[in-house]
Amino acid sequence: MSYSKHNTNKPGLNSIAVHTGTIHDAFGGVNTPIQPSTAIEYLNGHGTIPYPRNFSIPNHDAVAEKIAALEGGESALVLATGMSAISAGILAIANPGDHILMQSNIYGGTRAFVELLREKHHINVTLITSMDPETLSKHMTNETVLVYMETPTNPLLEIIDIEPITQWAKDHGILSMIDNTFASPVNQQPLALGCDIIMHSATKYLAGHSDLMAGALIGTSEYIEKCRKLSAIYGMSLNAVDLALLERSIKTIGVRVQQQNANAMEIAQWLQTHPNISAVHYPGLPSHPGHEIAQKQMSGFGGMMSFELAGNDTEFRDAFLQRLDMISTATSLGGVESTMTLPVQTSHNLLLPEERADLGIHEMLIRFSVGIEDAKDLIYDLEKALQ
Ligand SMILES: Cc1ncc(COP(=O)(O)O)c(C=O)c1O
Repeated sequence: MSYSKHNTNKPGLNSIAVHTGTIHDAFGGVNTPIQPSTAIEYLNGHGTIPYPRNFSIPNHDAVAEKIAALEGGESALVLATGMSAISAGILAIANPGDHILMQSNIYGGTRAFVELLREKHHINVTLITSMDPETLSKHMTNETVLVYMETPTNPLLEIIDIEPITQWAKDHGILSMIDNTFASPVNQQPLALGCDIIMHSATKYLAGHSDLMAGALIGTSEYIEKCRKLSAIYGMSLNAVDLALLERSIKTIGVRVQQQNANAMEIAQWLQTHPNISAVHYPGLPSHPGHEIAQKQMSGFGGMMSFELAGNDTEFRDAFLQRLDMISTATSLGGVESTMTLPVQTSHNLLLPEERADLGIHEMLIRFSVGIEDAKDLIYDLEKALQ
């Protein structure tokens, strides 16, 4: 559904999530019909040859329009995974010999892609530990084309101040790109903070039910068209059924994420008073070092947190995870169900212990993706398991 030109009302996020992009079917049904055909009549078509790998199917356009509108962007591309969004999004900008400034504490898959950029594409990447204009200027070269960031970070929920970085990038004619997966468009709108390009692992909050993989890129129509052409060749498109599932899921993102924000805040406050917990990393807590910046640039603090069990008894840690009933020890994040992971065993298992220690990732650190269950039940589960 597109809003009429005569409608001066600016729809809110929940209305966009429900209506924008959605195509009513031939019977007046209110959902975009699933169009799984791979053989599509083309003689009367205009523009791109209709073929799912070219992203030229209605289920793609419906969900892309919704995601673009949620982020306040001109255009979007929906891809097979978050990693395809990262790869296509970067390769559409950087050519051999170019240089990228990238935050060092980024998602592990993105960090692994840096090695491919260096070795296979001859693109230089400098990993930056302190994302501020002064440090970026120090490492910039004549070949720098992109600054890449992620906030809040995984798993320590560190907060990067977005606006000074995007302003710095604009001043130097460099593009800025952000991984907005952890915050979701409900809690953080990076385009309004000056960012040029947003990527999402739509597998997480956009899909929200831990049952499909997808990625998204949001930017200008010109940039998205470049990404589309490249991703069609690499074969990074998503099938019609998963696109339809994703569209259905996005309709509830506003209410899901609001509940996750509220649950996470209540649980973080409870955890920080518990004698068996030595640290809680949640940007909503005033004690969090990034709290003030998060307050400035986020409209909610999110459903992700991490915490550390007191002491260094890994048997107690493992028993704690085993004793949980409602909360699963499971990979991924952003679903309606609460899940936990041990970063030392999952996202950061390939690092040496001393490298993990440098990043502040200890054996007793647990990452918690808070779901939409009732906070009292989650606290009951935690309390029981912590005894
Ligand atoms: C912050 C972040 N970005 C990107 C990705 C990659 O997304 P995907 O697994 O959908 O390829 C992930 C996956 O965990 C992630 O957590």
